Amino acid sequence: MCGIFGYIGDKICLPYIVSGLEKLEYRGYDSAGVAYIDNEGNLEIRKVVGKVQNLKEILDLSVNSFIGIGHTRWATHGGITQQNAHPHVDCQGNIAVVHNGIIENYKELKDYLIKRGHIFRSQTDTEVVPHLLEDLIDNEGLELEYAITNIFSKLNGSFALLIMDKRRPNVLYALRKQSPLIVGFGNKENFVASDIPALGEYTDKFYYLKDNQMAKVTRDEIRIWDSNVKKYIEINPIKIPQERIRAEKNGYPHFMLKEIFEQPLVVRRIITELERDPSGSFEIKDIINCDIPWHKVEKIFIVACGTSYHAGYYTKFSWEEELPYWVEVELASQVHHRNLRIPDNTVFVTISQSGETADVISTLRKVKEKGYKVLSLVNNPQSTVARESDYFINLRAGIEIGVAATKTFMAELVYLDLLKEYIKYKLFNEKVNLEKWVLLPTYLENYLTNIKDLVFDIAKKYYNKKNFLYLARGRNFPLALEGALKLKEISYVHAEGIPAGEMKHGPIALLDPETPVFGIVYQDDTYTKMLNNLEEAKARKAPIIALGNENDRKLENLVDDLIPIPSIDPFYYPYLGTVVLQLFAYYVADLLGREIDQPRNLAKSVTVE
Ligand code: G6P
Repeated sequence: MCGIFGYIGDKICLPYIVSGLEKLEYRGYDSAGVAYIDNEGNLEIRKVVGKVQNLKEILDLSVNSFIGIGHTRWATHGGITQQNAHPHVDCQGNIAVVHNGIIENYKELKDYLIKRGHIFRSQTDTEVVPHLLEDLIDNEGLELEYAITNIFSKLNGSFALLIMDKRRPNVLYALRKQSPLIVGFGNKENFVASDIPALGEYTDKFYYLKDNQMAKVTRDEIRIWDSNVKKYIEINPIKIPQERIRAEKNGYPHFMLKEIFEQPLVVRRIITELERDPSGSFEIKDIINCDIPWHKVEKIFIVACGTSYHAGYYTKFSWEEELPYWVEVELASQVHHRNLRIPDNTVFVTISQSGETADVISTLRKVKEKGYKVLSLVNNPQSTVARESDYFINLRAGIEIGVAATKTFMAELVYLDLLKEYIKYKLFNEKVNLEKWVLLPTYLENYLTNIKDLVFDIAKKYYNKKNFLYLARGRNFPLALEGALKLKEISYVHAEGIPAGEMKHGPIALLDPETPVFGIVYQDDTYTKMLNNLEEAKARKAPIIALGNENDRKLENLVDDLIPIPSIDPFYYPYLGTVVLQLFAYYVADLLGREIDQPRNLAKSVTVE
């Protein structure tokens, strides 16, 4: 969480920094700030509570400055105040620092520095960095660069740091340990940012810093210092075409809506990228060299957070049904607290759109240390999760800007299902009929067009309700969880996903005429019991919305509003149902006037535990 951006070059820096921060706002937007060195050599700091827009209003973007750093914050240590906004400086105002991550030993460092006379102005963990550097430079006589490389060993926790010293106005230092940081190579200008969309407008040449590396960034050069070998090393920057990086709304009012409607295209891309074999098999390109002995595997352990966890949870049901494995799904943040006693022949599957979720990374490291193989699904092939996994599948969803995940969830569902077919082929040599997947984008496209107005009308009917219960059973239950999560994260309306069978054990007490129930009631093995559960809800006068089969008269008569799924192969139901749940949440949030792409208190990439 938190976005950081740095510029050094032959152009006035503030317009770059502000525009970079705007593209990083999905990482946090509690406060924003910049530091720059002006033509007279002064270090200037400007910071505000709230969004980058507020910062823009107080800045003179044309000020003559060619080096600067900026930050957009998701508060961890210290409240949302101007004082706690980054950048932070040392006592004398020479050194400015922006930070993403958590410095775990900040208390000890702060106590130590206070004893040595340093005066702190914020409650943040970050502020120890400029004071520590000041201490190393002024009291211990270290040269700036030496002091900076020194702090790798002094700071515990995770950090992406950008550091600037007004006494050295021609250089920016960028350090990474467990928080993402990328440098972008320009012409007579260079950039640093937390994520690539902030850089896509200016360059197509990048280097992703690895843990314990520092970039020394000047106008004409970027050099990488590696603290493992304690010297500058040669690196190979990568080229990423601009069209893969730049995200535009393309006429949609919000990125989220654009991303919902982009889902058919994402699925089409995934299918096109498969290596199909006329004999009826296929390969997933990214794992073509995967040598997991699927015949020997006993257990699959899926680990993820948030929406990605729901994709994993959904998958558990079909994998267990069709593969000879025991499949377990766990939230990454819960794995920490478990003493895992699992068979040796376990394969871990981690799912993460960002590939930077701190809990997922720590689980990944923990299980790799124990010798387990990890196969990951990620939307960023350069991310930490992708790099540190034994194998990874690139979700190919394209950059997702809306904080609420939509198209990446779809890509996760599709790839997990394809992965199941792929393993089945490896195990049983069963031919795969890919035709179902080939038709999926068209079904999605038509369905989105046909259903959106009805979903909007239903949203209009219920958007002022304060509580929603999403009910489903069996394999449909994870989708109820996802539907409820979508609604609460962007509309701030309380919503819970509940296994319908659990209603009578407590939640049914919540029902009244003001509490709509949203049921997922397909004509599958859950059907009859779901109808009973909805009857029970109706008897308590709860309004009922249901996602169910068209032509299901029984259901139609029972519920207040039916959102019909066409009478096609049930294979398509979860995918079509997903877009309904997304659209419903979107329209409710829009009717309530919420900030859909940047809901309060949330960040797209949760890089702290
Ligand atoms: C945050 C995002 C969610 C996302 C979750 C897991 O909470 O707001 O949309 O599902 O993190 O993120 P990941 O990148 O690991 O899929």
